[in-house]
Amino acid sequence: MKYFIGNWKMFGVPRSISILNKINLFISKDRNRKKYRVIVTPPYTLLETFSKKFKNKKIFIGSQNCYQKDHYSSNTAAISPYMIKKVGAKLTLIGHSDNRAEGDTDEIIKNKVIFALKNNLKIVFCIGENKKQKKNKQTLSVLKNQLTKVLEKKFKTNNLIVAYEPIWSIGTGKIPNQDELLITTLHIKKTLKNIFGKKTPPVIYGGSVDGGNVQKFKKIKEIDGFLIGGASKDSKKFIDIIKNYYR
Ligand code: PGA
Repeated sequence: MKYFIGNWKMFGVPRSISILNKINLFISKDRNRKKYRVIVTPPYTLLETFSKKFKNKKIFIGSQNCYQKDHYSSNTAAISPYMIKKVGAKLTLIGHSDNRAEGDTDEIIKNKVIFALKNNLKIVFCIGENKKQKKNKQTLSVLKNQLTKVLEKKFKTNNLIVAYEPIWSIGTGKIPNQDELLITTLHIKKTLKNIFGKKTPPVIYGGSVDGGNVQKFKKIKEIDGFLIGGASKDSKKFIDIIKNYYR
């Protein structure tokens, strides 16, 4: 199973649902549709309406983040995994570099993972090195650290997806070269094997993925899908990624 996950970030108002309607129509007619799953993470403000609208459709709706406590608390503007689950969302991103930059530590991220899993949300756990770490050849150790600080054998891998997103690639149009990406992906898979044993979660790639470069990523069979930012806000661009992947 491959994953095409659209991360809308700070984008979207109620009428933006028309973007998803078009993508849904494409999927329902696509002969490859059984091979992949499409997930979109709109902002919190649209989570309930979109989750309800797409309840029995081809697109799964998820949240972009969640708070590090369960159920209710007195943290202004915070939204817990419980609240996300109760409006019908199926999953949440956790640990996106935007949120790490705003203060999400490994410890906070781990709490988020624990409570999201407790509430039966699927998790897309994001990891990735920054430009400086890449330059200093620390990529593999940074990724290993990010994985081992948060993930534990007891977590259910059925509900987990790991997204490798090099920070220098997000929104820049720059993508890793193929040899490097293969080495990095294999390293992530090996680290996951050491944590979980046989049944490891899927590993997807994110960072400037578009309809033009998706064929390059396709050559790396170990990549189980994509986390797509910019290109997920336009139905044609998003559909082109899926089409070109299966071309
Ligand atoms: P991008 O964003 O596709 O615009 O690079 C990816 C992400 O941040 O998830």
